[in-house]
Amino acid sequence: MKEINVAVTGGAGQIAYSLLPRLISGETFGEDTKVNLRLVEIPQVVDKLEGTIMELIDCGFRQTGELTATSDIKEGVKDADWILLVGSIPRGIVVDGKKIEERSDLLKINGGIFTAQGSAIGEFAKSDAKILVVGNPANTNALIGKNQANNPGQQWFAMTALDANRAKAQLAKKAEVEISAVTNMAIWGNHSPTMYPDPNNALINGVSASEVINDKDWIENDYLPLVQQRGKAVIDARGASSAASAANAAIDTVKAVESPTAEGDCFSAAIASDGSYGVPEGLIFGYPLKTNSDGDVEIIQGIEINNFAQEKIDVTTQELLEEKEAVKDLLS
Ligand SMILES: NC(=O)c1ccc[n+]([C@@H]2O[C@H](COP(=O)([O-])OP(=O)(O)OC[C@H]3O[C@@H](n4cnc5c(N)ncnc54)[C@H](O)[C@@H]3O)[C@@H](O)[C@H]2O)c1
Repeated sequence: MKEINVAVTGGAGQIAYSLLPRLISGETFGEDTKVNLRLVEIPQVVDKLEGTIMELIDCGFRQTGELTATSDIKEGVKDADWILLVGSIPRGIVVDGKKIEERSDLLKINGGIFTAQGSAIGEFAKSDAKILVVGNPANTNALIGKNQANNPGQQWFAMTALDANRAKAQLAKKAEVEISAVTNMAIWGNHSPTMYPDPNNALINGVSASEVINDKDWIENDYLPLVQQRGKAVIDARGASSAASAANAAIDTVKAVESPTAEGDCFSAAIASDGSYGVPEGLIFGYPLKTNSDGDVEIIQGIEINNFAQEKIDVTTQELLEEKEAVKDLLS
């Protein structure tokens, strides 16, 4: 059996509870890969991970490797092949007597976490490690972490796969087709309500989803806000943020990076811009991606961007630039 080291922060959180069994079940890294799992938590919570580990053992997966818990990020990411950065501080939490409501405060607090984590990853994880940031604000957390890691062989992603899955589900429902009929779903920009879930380049049975649905009013006034605000709608309905679907999207992202993308399809994640589609270089930006047969992840080029899409892409780019400005002290 091959062996892989995987670290997950926020190991005692609700996303992790859905995520962890699927990382060691053979589903994500293959039937013939043993997964050593390091769970990382803040010191106040790390003891709880013993219970999580007991449950993971009790799942009885034959791919289960060594399971460990730590509050030391350096120990957690040592020699890691994959690192899933799920842990972060949610909006509304009280820090030093102050309730954190402002996005700029949230950016700074989480930014502090991601500087330490990025630096540990750069120094101690494998030089070809892959890192998926799930904790919000995911794109800017990834920007901070990647900058701090400063290890060019490592590849950083921020998660937009949940947005892509949400968008596919809505298009399939409207067109009355199976969800598997919807492919090439690109999420442009930030994992936030400014994202652009591209209905023109998405395909339904190989034809542009916009053409198949042929209802501009629905696309602009129902579909877009529904996908962009879906996270909030889940919180309102459930009293907690998306967890099972977020864990599922993280698994989808790892699998998409680990195996070649089908011809004519794409997967969605945010990666460092190389200037493609006019996005400033270095921003962690949601793009349509493909994994080629050598295992390299590329931004798909040559996608048609109409005026409406360009306006949306400009808005989400602007938001990411503002987020970058808000954390500039953490990037130097
Ligand atoms: N990108 C996406 O699509 C997406 C979707 C859903 C949720 N999220 C985000 O994922 C994050 C986690 O969500 P959740 O529902 O599991 O939250 P949760 O509050 O249930 O769990 C978060 C866990 O992270 C831990 N944590 C905090 N700081 C840490 C640190 N420095 N090191 C290690 N662990 C740390 C906390 O102790 C907690 O156990 C949130 O930021 C949420 O907004 C992202």
